Amino acid sequence: MNLTTTYLGMELTSPVVASPSPLTGRLDSLLRLQEAGAGAVVLPSLFEEEVESEALQLFDRMEAASGIGAEAAGYFPDVDLDHLGLERHLALVEQASDLLDIPVIASLNGRTPGGWVRYAGELQEAGARAIELNTYEVVVDPDLTAADVEERYLRLVDDVRREVDIPVSVKLSPYFTSMAHMARRIVEHGADGLVLFNRFYQPDLDLETLDVTPHLELSTESELRLPLRWTAILRPVLPDTSIGLTSGVHTGRGAAKALLAGADVVMVASELLREGPRRLGEILDELTRWMNEHEYTSVRQLQGSVAGHTAADPSAFERAQYQRVLKSWVS
Ligand SMILES: Cc1cc2nc3c(=O)[nH]c(=O)nc-3n(C[C@H](O)[C@H](O)[C@H](O)COP(=O)(O)O)c2cc1C
Repeated sequence: MNLTTTYLGMELTSPVVASPSPLTGRLDSLLRLQEAGAGAVVLPSLFEEEVESEALQLFDRMEAASGIGAEAAGYFPDVDLDHLGLERHLALVEQASDLLDIPVIASLNGRTPGGWVRYAGELQEAGARAIELNTYEVVVDPDLTAADVEERYLRLVDDVRREVDIPVSVKLSPYFTSMAHMARRIVEHGADGLVLFNRFYQPDLDLETLDVTPHLELSTESELRLPLRWTAILRPVLPDTSIGLTSGVHTGRGAAKALLAGADVVMVASELLREGPRRLGEILDELTRWMNEHEYTSVRQLQGSVAGHTAADPSAFERAQYQRVLKSWVS
């Protein structure tokens, strides 16, 4: 069975990629993911706020140790505080890139235009083979229009594209009014790939304390359907763009569906957090078994082979599916 695939211009030995999670933030588990057959790994996102807050904490510690006040910032003229905050993350990128044979993709979630660009450059310097721009953002400002937000993402892609030579992918939210149009524009602005989709975490309300409680639930298999559908819709629209599908891939059969819909790779996090890095190997085995049973000899043969089903008139197809689903209910 030939499991090789191309993603962001890189030849990967397998189409199953470890998506950013705490598992991809440690060298020991990265090694185990590689041993299990991961085609690539995406490291946890570098968050601009994290860099800033680490720098501030360090500054506080230095202040406390030296007994001087905040106004004496100039006391440490030679220390680049920002840079110190970054170091741990860049060291992970560097060490992982040295240690692993498979490509190490860095992920970035910036806060300011300058931050995105600067840290993208640093991640490239540290040895990342590609950069995933994690655009997780909950837009709550009623003065911001959808067009404003979209323009900001496009500018971000422009800016990062100018800064780095390595491939750039954009991990998107599914909540664009015109998803296909936005996806195409992102590619026109220089993205080499799209990652469909970011999962949005909904905090809960604690009825005793009336506090907002962060609530992290791992994904369920049914969440696969949203990225699956959009992968199938976007594949014919963007034939030359890499697509990584993330959310709800828990099994080899899930991976097979994603590849059939047109994904170049599937990205797995929840299932690996639940079951451990070895589960990645089992997913690959299940995929291989399914392919054997259905007489496929390579992943490339599988990729996108059902995406075309909707291509003639995708909008009519979606409408018909909607009506069919509603009518399928039997009480
Ligand atoms: C604990 C945890 C940490 C995560 N950290 C990141 C991150 O740093 N950057 C990112 O882009 N996605 C992050 N994700 C999202 C995953 O990479 C993945 O896209 C998402 O969970 C959907 O895939 P899944 O259904 O296989 O979990 C995280 C997910 C979990 C559960």
